Amino acid sequence: YVIGVDLGTSAVKTLLVAQDGTVKAESTREYPLYHDKSGWSEQNADDWVEGTLGSLNDLLSGSGVNPQDIEGISFSGQMHGLVLLDENHKPIRRAILWNDTRTTEQCREIERKLEDTLLSITRNPALEGFTLPKILWVREHEPNIFRQAVRFLLPKDYVRYRLTGEIHVDLSDAAGTLMLDVANKRWSPEVLSAFEISFGFCPPLIEAGGLAGTLTSEAASLTGLSQATKVFAGGADNACGAVGAGILSPGHTLCSIGTSGVILTYEEDAGSDYKGQVHFFNHAKADAFYAMGVTLAAGYSLSWFRHTFAKGESYDSLLQGVEHISPGAEGLLFTPYLVGERTPHADSVIRGSFIGIDGSHTRAHFARAVMEGITFSLNESVDIFRAVGKQIDTIVSIGGGAKNPVWLQMQADIFRADVVALENEQGPGLGAAMLAAAGCGWFPSLDACGEVFVKKAKVYTPNEKASQRYGQLFRIYQQIYYQTKAVN
Ligand code: XUL
Repeated sequence: YVIGVDLGTSAVKTLLVAQDGTVKAESTREYPLYHDKSGWSEQNADDWVEGTLGSLNDLLSGSGVNPQDIEGISFSGQMHGLVLLDENHKPIRRAILWNDTRTTEQCREIERKLEDTLLSITRNPALEGFTLPKILWVREHEPNIFRQAVRFLLPKDYVRYRLTGEIHVDLSDAAGTLMLDVANKRWSPEVLSAFEISFGFCPPLIEAGGLAGTLTSEAASLTGLSQATKVFAGGADNACGAVGAGILSPGHTLCSIGTSGVILTYEEDAGSDYKGQVHFFNHAKADAFYAMGVTLAAGYSLSWFRHTFAKGESYDSLLQGVEHISPGAEGLLFTPYLVGERTPHADSVIRGSFIGIDGSHTRAHFARAVMEGITFSLNESVDIFRAVGKQIDTIVSIGGGAKNPVWLQMQADIFRADVVALENEQGPGLGAAMLAAAGCGWFPSLDACGEVFVKKAKVYTPNEKASQRYGQLFRIYQQIYYQTKAVN
């Protein structure tokens, strides 16, 4: 057996997976998220460790599997979050997360200093969510705290460090720091020197599938796992989501709706040029890349809607009846900019809206409008890919958006592509388990592992009439950004 740990934003999920790819057990532990000020988003790094250990315990105790039979473990992690460590490798402040938008000024500074080189080296523009602007923010606003910092880590890399005692950052996550030379797979001397950051501040790099170590005796005794359990580095959640959905060769596209949402395409060539319109990162598969557009508040928009207007109800109950409402929610449109937006606007200030509220609208109309608005936002990324000539005929859908057949059909209709749902879809956690399975030598390659682990369940094809209607609505949706920007 292997274990995949998916360190998400709202919870950590662990999966126990057998050699044929069947998930034998799974377990989830939630942890708090702190929004002390508007635009701030933080977590306690040690809550992640506690949650992971707790989840591993629940997973193993309920599984009927002998923990000593677990051969390997690997990770998927929320990206970009800044964990600062002191000389004893203890976190010196709460981690600042990917959806924290306090760093606009630092982004402008990065653009000023690296005007001509940032995009060619890091392959990405300066965005609030990325790690480098967060480092600059802490240095500027909390100099006394920053003085104690000797190194930074990313979220899942901190958890892995606590389980193994070994410090690394994997390439797929390092790519989201804005300090990596993506094509050459090394920390960029140009970027580091422009901001007077030492190489020692950046952890050693490792491939996502690389062996990072084995468990410490403490981690082994806390979990019941053998100390010899191999721990593989693991990757960024979106990279692992791609692995777990079989996005492992050219021509494959993913739609993932978690707290954030992404449209992601496999890229073989480090030279693919999207001019910074979408992110371009190292894949969790060695020597491969991916490009992706990000909707900041995708699943988050629906969970916000549920908490606010249907407290205590399940998603099933919230979404009851949406299938009887026609595409367009009878004139109600939603923009999901609850925490700003990344693709295509890179705007941390814009906020969301409901447009066209009518006295006849029910809660189900609003729920449908939220699902449609999230999907329209993702379609802006699909459009960017198509505009540069990328052919997108089929999209594998994972995450919350793949749990509901109405939403899957909506994706097919809005994206004008076949949308594939997977059997027993497990998101990035399965990708993490696959990195461990391939690392343990169960398969000659990650691709071969994908052939066994990733199973298609159903294909949703676009309905012509609905697609046409959505095409008209999408053009209206796209205008709302500019109209509401003027009054925001
Ligand atoms: C990607 C991003 C999010 C997080 C979610 O750039 O910020 O998708 O990875 O965990």
